[in-house]
Amino acid sequence: MDPALNPYNPGSGLMPPLLAGRSSELERFDTLIIRVGMGNLANRGLVFSGLRGVGKTVLLNQLRHQAEQHNWLTIQFEGRSEEKGDAGNHLRLAEEFERALLRSRNQRIKKSLNSLLPGVSSFKVQLLGAGIEVDFSSQNRNSVTLEIGLSNLVEVVVEPLKGSGKGCALFIDEMQELEPQLLSSLLAVQHAAHQDGWPFFIIGAGLPTLPATLSSARSYAERLFDYRVIGPLSEEAARLALAQPAEKCGARYSDPAVEYLIDAAEGYPFFLQVFGQQIWDIAHEKEFSISDAQEAVYRGFEHLDRGFFPSRWDRATEKERRYMRAMVDAGQGVIETSDVIASLGGAYSEWSVARASLIKKGAIYAPERGKLAFTVPGMARFIERHGADEGER
Ligand SMILES: Nc1ncnc2c1ncn2[C@@H]1O[C@H](COP(=O)(O)OP(=O)(O)O)[C@@H](O)[C@H]1O
Ligand SMILES: [Mg+2]
Repeated sequence: MDPALNPYNPGSGLMPPLLAGRSSELERFDTLIIRVGMGNLANRGLVFSGLRGVGKTVLLNQLRHQAEQHNWLTIQFEGRSEEKGDAGNHLRLAEEFERALLRSRNQRIKKSLNSLLPGVSSFKVQLLGAGIEVDFSSQNRNSVTLEIGLSNLVEVVVEPLKGSGKGCALFIDEMQELEPQLLSSLLAVQHAAHQDGWPFFIIGAGLPTLPATLSSARSYAERLFDYRVIGPLSEEAARLALAQPAEKCGARYSDPAVEYLIDAAEGYPFFLQVFGQQIWDIAHEKEFSISDAQEAVYRGFEHLDRGFFPSRWDRATEKERRYMRAMVDAGQGVIETSDVIASLGGAYSEWSVARASLIKKGAIYAPERGKLAFTVPGMARFIERHGADEGER
């Protein structure tokens, strides 16, 4: 088929041609918008958690779009792991508030823009001031100042929206990356917003450990959000994600071809986009055959093995790679840390730095105490395919 017409869209945060299987999350957010529209502000925000490539970012983007269509004020923010002494997340958050105000089409916000912006910049000045005076590292940051500053900021921003039936939604992607103090301040502000009837809602997304991270930041976090696990698509949704975009462009899958791709992708949205993109480029006929599908999966994995998987593998040190190889030996899915150590030999303490570093780099996570898993679906098989070749240098 003509590659110029290829409808599939593999890539981090790239909107798929069809956002399949997420209607329950979209409806949940629609309900929030409707309730706020009716003046009912007692609603919980949403937190999505899941592995990489399941579609958290595109879901957040879709919800933001939904909110904007209803004239909500939306703030888009992505947590990043901070280098020591870097004020990154705090200041970028203030900047995103400012940016959101400046481009908002909400009439009430537009009218009060001149009084809103000083509120935002005083928050920034406060943060910068703290940076200059007390060495802006996370240990020394003053959490009380941060919480009050953030709370003032949100109050200033939502003030013009009160009573208008519109709300303000703060979308936070990679929320697990926020340092504990910023995280607990955000939760405190969300808590206060509930109690004081401010139309302010945090919609967060992150790795599977995010709900636990939030609960340990604030004990009441459990009650603040509606938690949703974002996982692989059902077979029906996966079929739709592949078939509908092709059909819109005048092509179709034979049954065995679509089955083959669904099986190979195991429902993971990122893989579906990769395989869909490949089969489109490979096929010569308008009906995609099983041999097109086999070739697409082969080339698709070649593509993933050059980008998606190595982006985690390449950042690891040799010791960390040995740790990951031992994880593969310990089995698929969620595994026991004790099995990893048994296969590596040596004491726990000898490997704890490698383990912590891999968690920090976002390659692995601990679903619960004593257990480990990769953050990327299919990573174990990638290591089997490639990691072992490199030997134990
Ligand atoms: N519901 C879905 N249906 C079809 N494709 C999807 C869906 N969600 C995500 N994708 C595709 O999967 C890939 C990864 O999405 P992304 O939002 O970046 O995942 P995450 O943020 O969870 O790592 C993108 O190519 C996107 O187009
Ligand atoms: Mg993402």
